[in-house]
Order: sequence, then structure tokens, then C-alpha cells
Amino acid sequence: MSTHRTASTIFEISRPGRRGILPPTCEPGLPGIDSCIPGHLRRQVPAELPEVSELDGIRHYTRMSTLNFAIDNTFYPLGSCTMKYNPRLNEVAASKPGFTHSHPLARAEEVQGFLEAMHALELILAEVSGLPHVSLQPAAGAHGELTALMMIRAYHLERGAREREVILIPDSAHGTNPSSCTIAGFRTREVKSGKDGTVDMDDLRAKMDPEVAGMMITNPNTLGIFEPNIQEISSILHAAGGLLYMDGANMNAILGIARPGDFGVDVMHYNLHKTFSTPHGGGGPGAGPIAVTNTLEPYLPVPRVVRSRDGKFSLSENHPRSIGKVRSYFGNSGILLRALAYAWAHGPADLRAVSEHAVLNANYIRAGLDGAYHLPYGAPSMHEVVFSAKIQKQFSVRALDIAKRLCDLGFHPPTIYFPLIVSEALMIEPTETESKETLDQFIQAMLQIARESETKPELLHNAPVTLPVKRLDEVNAVKTPVLTCCGTSPQ
Ligand SMILES: Cc1ncc(COP(=O)(O)O)c(C=O)c1O
Repeated sequence: MSTHRTASTIFEISRPGRRGILPPTCEPGLPGIDSCIPGHLRRQVPAELPEVSELDGIRHYTRMSTLNFAIDNTFYPLGSCTMKYNPRLNEVAASKPGFTHSHPLARAEEVQGFLEAMHALELILAEVSGLPHVSLQPAAGAHGELTALMMIRAYHLERGAREREVILIPDSAHGTNPSSCTIAGFRTREVKSGKDGTVDMDDLRAKMDPEVAGMMITNPNTLGIFEPNIQEISSILHAAGGLLYMDGANMNAILGIARPGDFGVDVMHYNLHKTFSTPHGGGGPGAGPIAVTNTLEPYLPVPRVVRSRDGKFSLSENHPRSIGKVRSYFGNSGILLRALAYAWAHGPADLRAVSEHAVLNANYIRAGLDGAYHLPYGAPSMHEVVFSAKIQKQFSVRALDIAKRLCDLGFHPPTIYFPLIVSEALMIEPTETESKETLDQFIQAMLQIARESETKPELLHNAPVTLPVKRLDEVNAVKTPVLTCCGTSPQ
């Protein structure tokens, strides 16, 4: 599939004198180049630009646009990231002129439809989480974590509990969890996972003390395992005066099936770009709304959407115990609208079906690869399955080699080397939108790689062999990035 992915730079196809555009000549009074740009502003030497025909230019950029792996052109099982398909319906809804033409500083009377849409999304996220109050402002999952931690801090400070400076975090957690804690001014304390990959309850009890402000837990956790003791974890925290935060990155496994508010969570974030099919967007804009209990509601960020008795919507800043504003205006509204379109298009029954299919697909892959790849934890998988390349390592093949070889075979690799507690981890999350045929092709590719590990490991060490960019020296690539088209390093 990927053999057409050969590269040439646009300079290599350049030939002197070829033109793709005809710049306007300038006539007095008309726009143009020669007479419109004063002599002292003109270049003294010609710019080093490629000289190509319009058709060659278009072909070049069209081909370039297909060189990357993307959810729209290939299976993308990047575990924990939930790279689900972004339905085009979302785009249609979010690009309605009533939304795109409204100004963020418009008066509430002028943007009733937009505020109503935001209110509707808040209600849906509250219902799905079982937590009654929502803020849509945070711009990513990590930002939701930070916002929630600031609220937890405000809650304890209001009770005079200055000493509560510690947040407990399981060793399987995503790196943003400890980072957010540090940024919010907390110290972190690690809780071990037991042999089954879930929180070690004895270690949790041993780590509790009056300094604990709360715990951040991901459920299902990053091994794709549902924490069976979640209610007991919540009771232990609450009995000691702490609060339970849930990293909701893995909500795609439990939509309409289990509600964090019902199993003892006080506050959680959603990653709309994981669960509600909004674009991941290469670092932004994203959205990481938070949902909270009645107890934490007073600390939610402002402004908040308020619906008055007459059904009118407004933005209210009048919440004196609020932690304040965490994002300009109202958050990434275009993303929020896409999430609402997704939720409405599905409705409650289909949202539940999303999770059921996500879990089914992950388990189909698990069954297809079990034996060929080592499964470090036997507990049932939810929406993702974590293998280890332990078997392949005997033949000096590592998770990185497997990931690179998958690129040759036309698939985006799974997440590797995460979670950190699994050596040579391969974290596969297919999502619900993939067909059985695609899953079968992926399984076949992984089985082929398992065979190649034994018979021709050097092929895997050199992979990818069919892509324009071969195996990078990743350390060097970070330290001395070559960002120009022609291979010269920036000075
Ligand atoms: C488990 C988990 N928590 C938190 C995050 C952070 O989310 P975001 O990338 O939206 O900041 C991620 C992102 O991949 C994640 O997988």
C-alpha cells in the first residue's frame, strides 16, 4: 500500500523557466509588481524559488499531503489517544454561518443559539458522567486536569486545610497527571499497581495521610483495565478528607454503561477529541471539559452559561468562589459544537453502542494476537489492549522495530513504551469505527511481523524500508532537527 510513498522535493522537479503562475505586470494606477514595489524595497538577487508548472506544483503538494499517516487514510490504533473518525456531519454543523459569524464579544441576546448549544452540551456531559455541573472552557485534557486540580486546591483552602498538598497517582498514569499536579502546586505520591494491573489497595492505604488532597485515577486505566475497586478507592479517599479525580481520557469504553459520578468520582475531565470525535488537531485546538459534583460546583471557572426562568441564556461572571477564568472567551467553541453534533447524531442508545463496539474491537484484536505477542495482564480488556514485545525481544526485536515495520505495511503504529509499567509496551486502541476487515488486515500485519522477528530481524531493525523517510536517529533528530527541504540544518 505504501510503496508509492516516494519523496522528491519540489526543487528536484524544478526546471529553469517553467512557470505555474503569471504575476500581474503593474500599470500606473493598477496593482502589479514592477511599478508598484518601490525600487528600494525590491530584492537585489532573485529568490531561490522552484520553477515548476502549475500541474507539477499541484501534483507535488497533493502527493505530499498523502505521505503522512492520518485517520482519513489508514488505520490509526494509537492507544490512549482514541483516534476515532471525525464525522463530516460535525464539520457541517460547526460551520453554520450563525456560529462562524458570531463574535466572541457579541451580547448574549445576539448569540442565544450558540449559548443554547453550549448549555445543551453541558447537560449531555453531565448526564454521561453522572456529575451535575460542567465547564466547557479547558482547551485539552491536560488543561482539564489543571483546572480540576485548581478547584480541589480551592476547596481545601476554603476549609483551612493548607497542609493538603499531595495528590496520589497510580504508576500506570499518563504523564500529564503528575505534570498537572506540579503546575497546580501539589506534590505527587505514586501508588503501585498490583499484579493484575489495577491499583494495589494495600499500597493505597499505606500512602494515605492528612497531607493527601486527592487522587487522580484513570478508569479504565491506561492498561485498558477497569478498576474493579473504584468504589472502595473513593470511600478510602473520602473517609480521609480527600477528593477523587478521574482522568476521563478512556471514556470511550464506558459511555452509557458506567457513570463516574455513580462510582464515587468528584471531578473528571473529558477529552472531546478522544470520546466525542472532534479533531485532535496537532496540539490544538482541543477541548477538555470538566464535570463536577455539587460540592465542587462553586469553584467552576467563569463565565458560565446560565439559563433563566424565561428560557433565555446568558453568560454569568457572578460566582465569587470560582477559580476564575482558564481560557479566553468561552473555550474552543468550534470544537464544542462538533462534539454536540456527534452526541445529538448518536443519541443515548448509540453512544452506548459506540463503547460496546470499541470494547468489542479491542478484544477482537486481543484474541487475534494473543500468543504471538505477550499479554502482560490477563484481566479483561476494555477499549484498548496492551501487549509487550517480550517474545520478539528474544530475537533482539523491540517495540520500536515493530512500530516502524507497521508503517511499511501501511498502518499507523500503536502507542509504544507506554504505560511505563509494561516493558516494550504496544498499546493498541482500534476504536469503534473500524470494520472487521480492517481489524483482520491489521492482525495479519502484526502476525507477519511476529514471524519476521524470528526469521529476518534485520529487516525490522532497518524498517521502515518503503517510506521516503527511513529510520531516524531519533536523539539526533530532536537535537539537530533538519527542517529545510534541501537537507541543510538551520544555523
Ligand atoms: C490517559 C490520558 N490522560 C490525559 C491525556 C492528556 O490529554 P490531552 O492530550 O488532551 O491534553 C491523555 C492524552 O493522550 C491521555 O491518554
